[in-house]
Amino acid sequence: MKTLVDLVAGARPNFMKLAPVMRAIRARGELEPRIVHTGQHYDYGMNDVFFEELGIPRPDIYLEVGSGSHGAQTARILERYEEYLMKDPPGATVVFGDVNSTVACSLAAVKLRVPVVHVEAGLRSFDRTMPEEINRILTDAIAELLLVSEPSGAANLNLEGVKSAKVRLVGNVMIDTLMHELTLAKKSHILEQLELTDDEYAIMTMHRPSNVDDPTILKRLLEVIRDLSSIMPIVFPIHPRTRQAAAEAGVTDLLFKSPGLRCIDPVSYRNNLWLMANARLVLTDSGGMQEETTFLKVPCLTLRENTERPITVERGTSRLVGNEPEQIRNAFEDVLAGRWQKGEAIPLWDGHASERVAKEICLWI
Ligand code: UD1
Repeated sequence: MKTLVDLVAGARPNFMKLAPVMRAIRARGELEPRIVHTGQHYDYGMNDVFFEELGIPRPDIYLEVGSGSHGAQTARILERYEEYLMKDPPGATVVFGDVNSTVACSLAAVKLRVPVVHVEAGLRSFDRTMPEEINRILTDAIAELLLVSEPSGAANLNLEGVKSAKVRLVGNVMIDTLMHELTLAKKSHILEQLELTDDEYAIMTMHRPSNVDDPTILKRLLEVIRDLSSIMPIVFPIHPRTRQAAAEAGVTDLLFKSPGLRCIDPVSYRNNLWLMANARLVLTDSGGMQEETTFLKVPCLTLRENTERPITVERGTSRLVGNEPEQIRNAFEDVLAGRWQKGEAIPLWDGHASERVAKEICLWI
């Protein structure tokens, strides 16, 4: 019988990482993947549409935890996943990225002596106010095999004293999905639907607590976005937590009554990819989109003070612009004036990272 290996997903950024790894593990035929979905994200537009487009089968285990405070959500996942681990323990639990589901399932597994494999290990923003940074540090501390997407990940783990025998630089599995989906994304009608012209619009996403939780910061950001959208249309697929924060801060009008700003519901993977690929520039606080724009060579104004993905700034097309209006405006003008780095191809972001992940997991198990 083949060894069972759990692949854990919970929130939107996990799905594009799990899909190619699942395919690569299946293709090798040595292990039996079991898909565990925690239910951290559950709306059709945040969840189901990704399963459909990326061809991920229905989860074998669905924990249905839903939203909650960090403690409540993490605790529910821990308790519910543990039950399955006790009934039918896998040979390993593979977790992706840095969301609450990542750390919760890692902790449940390691306590039952199920070894943990972390895909996208070692990334550090060195900002412990970010919930994701805590998730990254804790997951790496208890993982047995740490699969790294860029060299900084290996360097960080080395500084933290992780034995190099546990660490492998495999590249970026999310880029596998991007390359796999790009041809299909070309069939998207999103530009026509939104009446956008190639290279003459910007796309923006924003949901980090540091940008949306403080009403003063959120208002200031939405005001600068409104101003910039009079220079060039900006499409803004709104994350549910941002919509909620804007309502609570009483600034919904800035979202829906600014003429150049097109606020829409969250979009599917392919529509988002097509919107990014054809945009003049991207404004975002998403880690994944920093990487995707680097691959696509589209200028990316990263609405953060720091990044756990330094290669996107050092060698890619991303610049950290924080959330101060002046800096955002200047960067926007720099892009329009052609004063932006062109970026280069990142080693191992080549469409084959998942094959290397699958190989490393098989060899290691
Ligand atoms: C989570 C991740 C973050 C990632 C983001 C991508 C953590 C700590 N954060 O943040 O790293 O960048 O996902 O989206 O894991 N909600 C819905 N429908 C859904 C899911 C969420 O309406 O399907 C709303 C709920 O009000 C919920 C809020 O969004 O309380 C936040 O969701 P949550 O999963 O807690 O964190 P995200 O902000 O999405």
